[in-house]
Amino acid sequence: MKFFIDTANLAQIQEAEDFGILDGVTTNPSLMAKEGITGVKNVHEHYKAICKIVEGKPVSAEVISTDFKGMVKEGEKLAKLADNIVIKIPMIKDGIKALSYFYKKGIPTNCTLVFSAGQAILAAKAGATMVSPFIGRIDDTTWDGMKLIEDIAEIYAIQGFETEILAASIRNGKHIVDAAMAGTDIVTCPLSSIMGLLNHPLTDIGLAKFLADHKKASKGKK
Ligand code: G3P
Repeated sequence: MKFFIDTANLAQIQEAEDFGILDGVTTNPSLMAKEGITGVKNVHEHYKAICKIVEGKPVSAEVISTDFKGMVKEGEKLAKLADNIVIKIPMIKDGIKALSYFYKKGIPTNCTLVFSAGQAILAAKAGATMVSPFIGRIDDTTWDGMKLIEDIAEIYAIQGFETEILAASIRNGKHIVDAAMAGTDIVTCPLSSIMGLLNHPLTDIGLAKFLADHKKASKGKK
């Protein structure tokens, strides 16, 4: 399973990259706005900076347009920013057309805002490189986000679809573990969720004991 970080924060992307387990980055217009990045020129420069930190690893850059022509124009400009840009396209009618267009051009895509297995089938049929079901937002409505990952994984396996499942809207470590069990190809999550996987009280207790025993045994010895 691949690990992507879901942020536009350069320091956090660098920290995850230095951690050594990062496979890619996803962003969205809300995450860009959170970093105060506005205006096409600044947004493009920011994407270039992200792509440089994680050289060669996929970076999802989302289009703002909602019509086919606009998505194509925007996506083509984004794709020229760096070799590792993936065009993120919403699950709407013109989005499906745009996914299909970019597939034919050999430009990688990530179909976002996916909330049903039917949408995931459409995205795969259109040739999306990745599909992003939003786990946390489904759970927020008291439906079962993880069941959707299971369903998509089963359908893609039965049908032989090559689109990768990118579990998004991940909120905690349990989501990551459950998504792995459900057969996702990728999880994208905040740095806090990735780091949360580190924690276990028995690890801390065990390490403290190892170090204390070592100190005791070494006392008085050169
Ligand atoms: O990038 C899309 C997704 O991961 C958003 O997550 O937490 O805003 O639902 P969230």
